[in-house]
Amino acid sequence: MIVVIELGRTMPRPYTRIFSTMTVDGRIASKTGYSKLSCHEDFDLQHQVRAWADLVVVGSNTALVDDPRLTVRRVPSRTPLRGVVDSRLRVPPTARLYSLPGAVLITTTDHSDEELLAYERRGARIIKAGSGRVDLVEAWRILYEELGVRRVMVEGGGSLNYALLEAGLVDEVWVTLAPYVFGAGRSVFDGPGFPGGDNMARLRVVGVRPLCGGSWISVRYEVLWPRRPLY
Ligand SMILES: NC(=O)c1ccc[n+]([C@@H]2O[C@H](COP(=O)([O-])OP(=O)(O)OC[C@H]3O[C@@H](n4cnc5c(N)ncnc54)[C@H](OP(=O)(O)O)[C@@H]3O)[C@@H](O)[C@H]2O)c1
Repeated sequence: MIVVIELGRTMPRPYTRIFSTMTVDGRIASKTGYSKLSCHEDFDLQHQVRAWADLVVVGSNTALVDDPRLTVRRVPSRTPLRGVVDSRLRVPPTARLYSLPGAVLITTTDHSDEELLAYERRGARIIKAGSGRVDLVEAWRILYEELGVRRVMVEGGGSLNYALLEAGLVDEVWVTLAPYVFGAGRSVFDGPGFPGGDNMARLRVVGVRPLCGGSWISVRYEVLWPRRPLY
């Protein structure tokens, strides 16, 4: 079976970099949800990439499970806009993301003003794209055209990573290989899957860097396909 992914026309969208730390078997979380895989130099790199971005974003499951701050703390820099892709507003306004100073962007679907009120009271900015589940292509267009976001860092999880890659919205993938094996759990790209042959994501290594004495390895890839032209 040949699956053709329609990438559509050139679109204005932010340059997008995925950053994840994974085990040797490509897992970002174990079957029990354990996900502490970084070493100190990997954390440093993560914060450098946050400082590079205009927006750092996670999927709703990561926001619920990890309750991340997404702030820049390990390098001297401003914290970018922080965000969550949350179609059903599952991440409560009490999440740590919303309780820290600085703007938070919720990318969601067609919710009423009433449903959004508690988030707006926490200072959240909201974009609506799609119904049922966030339309990532539309969301990335809005980020670029209406919010002026030019650089996005995506910090997982696997479902959001996969959906963005499949939609052709990812330019770079930075993975840090941690010296562990889970054997099961959440993959760094987790979704319906590419069939293979001519229809599988193809990447090119653009950099390799040993971290923490060489036991961790950062590998930077450029996405060759699928990838929408930027402009
Ligand atoms: N090691 C690492 O570097 C690392 C990094 C990040 C996360 N993690 C781990 O990864 C796990 C979470 O990963 P995950 O794959 O379960 O979740 P995820 O990617 O963080 O979030 C997935 C959710 O995003 C929402 N979403 C909204 N629009 C979407 C779209 N168009 N396509 C796909 N998803 C969309 C969906 O929920 P709604 O439909 O409800 O919106 C979906 O269930 C956690 O255990 C976390 O600890 C590890």
